[in-house]
Amino acid sequence: MKNLVGAVCAWAVVALGACSGPRAPRIAEVNIVPKPKMVDVDTSAGCFELTARTPINLIGGDSTLSYAVDFLDDLLTPSLGAPLKTQLGTAADPLLGAINVKVDTLLGPEAYTLAITRDWVCVEAGASAGAFYAFETLRQLLPDQVLRQERVGVIELPLVTVIDEPAFAYRGALLDAGRHFVPVEEVKHYIDILAMHKINHMQWHLTEDQGWRIEIKKYPRLTEVGSIRKRTQLNNFEMEHTEPKYEEKPYGGYYTQDQIREVVRYAQRHFVTVIPEIELPGHAQAALASYPYLGCIGQGYEVSSNWGIHKEVFCAGKDSTFDFLEDVFTEVMELFPSKYIHIGGDECPKDRWEACPRCQQRIKDEGLKDETELQSYFVHRIEDFLRSHGREIIGFDEILEGGLSQTATVMSWRGTKGGIEAAKKGNRVIMAPLEHCYLDYYQTKDPQSEPYYSWGRYLPVEQVYALDPYAGLNEVEQSYIWGVQANPWGEYIRSEPDLQFKVLPRIGALAEVGWSGGEKDFADFKKRAVSLKRMYEAEGYTYAPYLFAEP
Ligand code: ACM
Ligand code: ZN
Repeated sequence: MKNLVGAVCAWAVVALGACSGPRAPRIAEVNIVPKPKMVDVDTSAGCFELTARTPINLIGGDSTLSYAVDFLDDLLTPSLGAPLKTQLGTAADPLLGAINVKVDTLLGPEAYTLAITRDWVCVEAGASAGAFYAFETLRQLLPDQVLRQERVGVIELPLVTVIDEPAFAYRGALLDAGRHFVPVEEVKHYIDILAMHKINHMQWHLTEDQGWRIEIKKYPRLTEVGSIRKRTQLNNFEMEHTEPKYEEKPYGGYYTQDQIREVVRYAQRHFVTVIPEIELPGHAQAALASYPYLGCIGQGYEVSSNWGIHKEVFCAGKDSTFDFLEDVFTEVMELFPSKYIHIGGDECPKDRWEACPRCQQRIKDEGLKDETELQSYFVHRIEDFLRSHGREIIGFDEILEGGLSQTATVMSWRGTKGGIEAAKKGNRVIMAPLEHCYLDYYQTKDPQSEPYYSWGRYLPVEQVYALDPYAGLNEVEQSYIWGVQANPWGEYIRSEPDLQFKVLPRIGALAEVGWSGGEKDFADFKKRAVSLKRMYEAEGYTYAPYLFAEP
């Protein structure tokens, strides 16, 4: 094991075995989620004593390394009473008594080694993101008092070496603000939760039938009109065959462009890329209510109070629809640096297009076979526009229907079938099959007993953990699997505790699928998940107890 450490981290490994501290660490066990590639615990007595006088010695890296250091300071300062002093070091030996952080670009950008000895802490990372993840791992080694931000004079760290890097480059989670608006402070908390689980992308679902949530300067009615619905459906009565329940009052909310910039900056500091989602051609009723000319019929729309799949979609026959969307995306691209933009593409009924003379004319003019090819035309046209600005699209697996371009990324949600098909075609794939990844679904066999309403199907944490993103693919095809994503849809998620209850700890199981890959051992995950529980409790998060219950 030591040889492996030496091979991967020659700089940090100098530290191993060269120490003399008398104290034993207070932490009883080393439990880390997601599971690192390698953990080596030195069980001999001793620990590293971290105090307010411990310096941080930085070697290499760019300005974003300060984000990682700021995060470490946020973790430790409340307990130590003062931020640690940062100094710029040289590439020679690690500094005694310091937290040494070195960026070595030969490693992958998210890879890191964390070596804690009696004499020093050494972090070696491929880039700032790797250093940040080393500190997220270090967080799981902190005593409860420090997690709870209680004052302590000395923080005793266990002697441990961790070598780690993610199996998948894309580890994502959806935030569906389209259904229920999520205030900026809660978006930031959600980003904290993602970062805690080493999740590095947030798909921000900003437009829906039930609400348009992003300020677009050129089209003020999108938020004046499109962000408010007149009432809210409280249960999925169509599917459950029960009495409809509504909250009979207007509901709404939207993000100003300044707020969006604030969230993007916050996410960057936590190494989370925010992928904006602007839904098309379906799930567009709030846009149509704001500007009725965007629909085939051109009148009579309202922001929807009901969930489900709606017939009122963008008209594919009018050039003015594309002008509108190009204007919207122009503003979206100014706000979001992400190379990838999600365009939805799911659940677009073709009823209106079948009856619309303009849509039918478009089918004729473009030599398309049918409305399915019209949808593909729609997506291609938007994709071409975005590509001309250096961006690429992600779309739900419906974008496979009618043909897709080689640069489109497919998010497989109706099982893994679409993802498998896309990977076989050589398209990049994110696996988010509903039977493993839809974290709004209920968690126990008795959903009535759960404290928050949920619907769909039974999706216990074991089932999330069981996702195999590579199933059904050969080695070459597997290389197209970019990663996995958790999708807690917000139809019935009405508050922050509700959202947290749905995602915690199931998102930990998916994070481990995305970060750790390889062999799975649910019993081992369950044992290590006590570390998640410690952090959730310290942060005051609402979490589902089922994983942590005794059998
Ligand atoms: C979806 O759940 N309609 C992507
Ligand atoms: Zn039309």
